[in-house]
Amino acid sequence: YVLGIDLGTSSVKVILVQKDGAIVSSSTKEYPLINKQPGYSEQDPLVWVAQTIKATKEIIERCDINPGQIEGLSFSGQMHGLVLLDENNNVLRPAILWNDTRTSRQCSEITDRLGEQLLDITRNKALEGFTLPKLLWVKENEPDIYKKIHKILLPKDYLRFRLTGNIQMEYSDAAGTLMLDIANKCWSQEILNAFNINPSICPELVESTDFTGYVLPDIAEKMNLTSRTKVFAGGADNACGALGANILSEDKAMSSIGTSGVLLSFEDEAVDYSGTIHFFNHSVPNAYYSMGVTLAAGHSLNWLKNTFFENESFEDMMAYAEQSKAGSKGLLFTPYIVGERTPHPDAKIRGSFIGIDAGHSKKDFVRAVLEGITFSLNETLEEYKKRNKQIDTIVSIGGGAKSDLWLQIQADIFNTKVIKLATEEGPSLGAAIIAATGLDWYPTVQDCANAFVKVDKVVYPDTKNVETYRKLFKIYKEIYPSTASIN
Ligand code: XUL
Repeated sequence: YVLGIDLGTSSVKVILVQKDGAIVSSSTKEYPLINKQPGYSEQDPLVWVAQTIKATKEIIERCDINPGQIEGLSFSGQMHGLVLLDENNNVLRPAILWNDTRTSRQCSEITDRLGEQLLDITRNKALEGFTLPKLLWVKENEPDIYKKIHKILLPKDYLRFRLTGNIQMEYSDAAGTLMLDIANKCWSQEILNAFNINPSICPELVESTDFTGYVLPDIAEKMNLTSRTKVFAGGADNACGALGANILSEDKAMSSIGTSGVLLSFEDEAVDYSGTIHFFNHSVPNAYYSMGVTLAAGHSLNWLKNTFFENESFEDMMAYAEQSKAGSKGLLFTPYIVGERTPHPDAKIRGSFIGIDAGHSKKDFVRAVLEGITFSLNETLEEYKKRNKQIDTIVSIGGGAKSDLWLQIQADIFNTKVIKLATEEGPSLGAAIIAATGLDWYPTVQDCANAFVKVDKVVYPDTKNVETYRKLFKIYKEIYPSTASIN
């Protein structure tokens, strides 16, 4: 067996996976976000460790297996969060998470100081979520803590350190710090120098499937594991989500709809998207992935439900949407209710319904929201098309895969066949694939993903709907520039 551990933002999920890829059991333990001020989002790294121990212990007890049979484990982790360690490797302050937005000023400073160099080295723009602006915030606002920094880590790298006693950072996550030279796979001296950051605080870098040590005896005892369990480095949650959906070739993309939405694809080379979409190292050596983010995807549908359909279920809402038509009879929605990231990095923009007609009813409003979220993801797909990247398959996971209607809407708006997976374990399966490959159960992560990830069904575009959506998408794209100035 292997364990796949997904250290998420609201919980840690641990899955136990057999050699043939079957998921034997899973356990989830939650933890809170600490929001001391508006825009602040922090977590206590010690709680991540405690909850991971609990979840793992629970699985092993429940499945009644011999702990010696668990050969290895690996991780998927929420990206970008800054964990600071002092010289005794104790945590200096709560971790500042990816969804913390206090660092706008530091982002402007990074952009002003590095200019085009930032894009050349990191392939990304400075955004509040990334790690470097958080480090600069601590330098300015908590100088006493900054002085004590011995090492910086990311969430799952900290968890792995606590399990093995060894400090490393893994590439797919390091790529989200804004300090990594992603093509040369090393810490960027230019960036560190520009902000006077001591290079010794940056950990040794490792590949996702690298063996990083055995579980320490005292932790192994608490987790119900043995100290012969091998620990592999793991990957960023988006990289692991891509592995868990088998997005391991240029022609495939993943459309993931959770609170936020992600459209992600595999990249063979360090392409320059001018920072319009994010670009990170993958969990496969010398490969990358690119992704666009819709800030309020499932969040928009939740908002609609809580505001207008309080006493109805999501199934009821989907049934309404079924009764409308492709294009919601001309009603358009932009899902900018908490701002947007791709292709418009704009925290101030707000959403809209456009084209409301006296003949529209609530069924059209629900459908327009589903379509608007999908249009937003389609803007990322359009970035690929502009660069002649040929995508012929999109794997849908999360909320978009739970409804046949939404799967069809995606196939029609993306004008690409859409796959629904047989079981959906998300990033935790990616983590298990990394552990299984690290153990040499399979020669490459691709071989392992082919064995572990199974397809349920394929949905094809409907030509008539494709044409309807093509026309509407043109109007959709005009809404952002037309409404940006009134927000
Ligand atoms: C990616 C990002 C989020 C986090 C969520 O840039 O900020 O998707 O990885 O954990």
